Amino acid sequence: MIQFIDLGAQQKRIRDRVKLRVNAVLDHGHYIMGPEVQELEVQLASYIGTKHCITCSSGTDALLMVLMAHGVGPGDAILTTPFTFISTVEVIMLLGARPLFVDIDPQTYNVDPNKISKTVRDAQKDNQYKVKGIIPVDIFGLPANYPEIEAAAAEYGFWVLEDGAQSFGGSISGQKACSFGNAATTSFFPAKPLGCYGDGGAIFTNSDSLAELMVSIRVHGKGVNKYDNIRIGLNGRLDTLQAAILLEKFQILDEEIKQRDSIANRYEELLDGMVTTPIIPDDFRSAWAYYSVLTESEQKRKELMALLKKQGIPTAVYYPKPLHFQQVSSHLGYNKGDFPVAEDVSSRIFSLPMHAYLEDEDLVKIANVFQGV
Ligand SMILES: Cc1ncc(COP(=O)(O)O)c(C=O)c1O
Repeated sequence: MIQFIDLGAQQKRIRDRVKLRVNAVLDHGHYIMGPEVQELEVQLASYIGTKHCITCSSGTDALLMVLMAHGVGPGDAILTTPFTFISTVEVIMLLGARPLFVDIDPQTYNVDPNKISKTVRDAQKDNQYKVKGIIPVDIFGLPANYPEIEAAAAEYGFWVLEDGAQSFGGSISGQKACSFGNAATTSFFPAKPLGCYGDGGAIFTNSDSLAELMVSIRVHGKGVNKYDNIRIGLNGRLDTLQAAILLEKFQILDEEIKQRDSIANRYEELLDGMVTTPIIPDDFRSAWAYYSVLTESEQKRKELMALLKKQGIPTAVYYPKPLHFQQVSSHLGYNKGDFPVAEDVSSRIFSLPMHAYLEDEDLVKIANVFQGV
């Protein structure tokens, strides 16, 4: 049976070591902010290459904490992509700010840097909101085009928050995903490239002042301690047990990414000419959270997914509805046709099984289904 993401096979490989780690937490009993949390933060900051790693309760809370640290609120606008999971946009709206969507690049599905200027200039003309920042998303594991996004941000004077929920382990020219912008976030949701066995997330930054604010926000806006409350915060900590599990999962991350890289290469060979396979720009490396292909039409996607299902091969659509079409965004006043690339991609994209434990025969079986269409 082919799994979409095989967490069972992965667990089998590291179960003994995870048990030892979990037992150590049961022995010392520091369930909240135990020593494993700091051990993980030190290891992850060193891997990503940032001065600070602040672990937290989820990828959503990680985004929220950065926005809170930047003081985002009513009257502010934050640029982002309409082709992402709701979290990216939800946190902007939660703070009373306005998401301003920028359409995506038709090849990478990440925010199109060439469309940033127009959106910012239109917002400046409109004069209702001040553009404070941008949240690019590293969709499917591929980092967004940070060299160009950071140049636009410098030109217009706003900050960059990298949503690296899907890209932990990816890179651009050797610089790790989750190290771009003023701060970056990731998610440890079980299915993510580095996932725990529950919810978790992390923030990465080189800024001492941002890091200090987020350490405070993570624990109810604490000052000298949690009974000294100097700002609005959250209960946003990562559990010690999850940190312990992540310490073991982290040991095999790079090897798994290498394996996913070779699976992606093999998919590309096998699916050549049948669908549009992912386009990874030179010097970019994806963490391959998902392997997403583009069909020639919505109808073709439906047919292919049905045929794959018949063969017991799981697939999924990320994301079937761009965020400007969601009911929760209806007050933003967007219309059909406002982000044509995101709308088109949402209607034709779907994801195939992708994990380090796929065998070549699995990939051949999957590709054979495409041949029949
Ligand atoms: C792009 C993106 N951003 C944010 C999140 C939120 O992460 P979490 O589920 O850990 O809150 C996700 C998770 O699915 C995501 O895919």
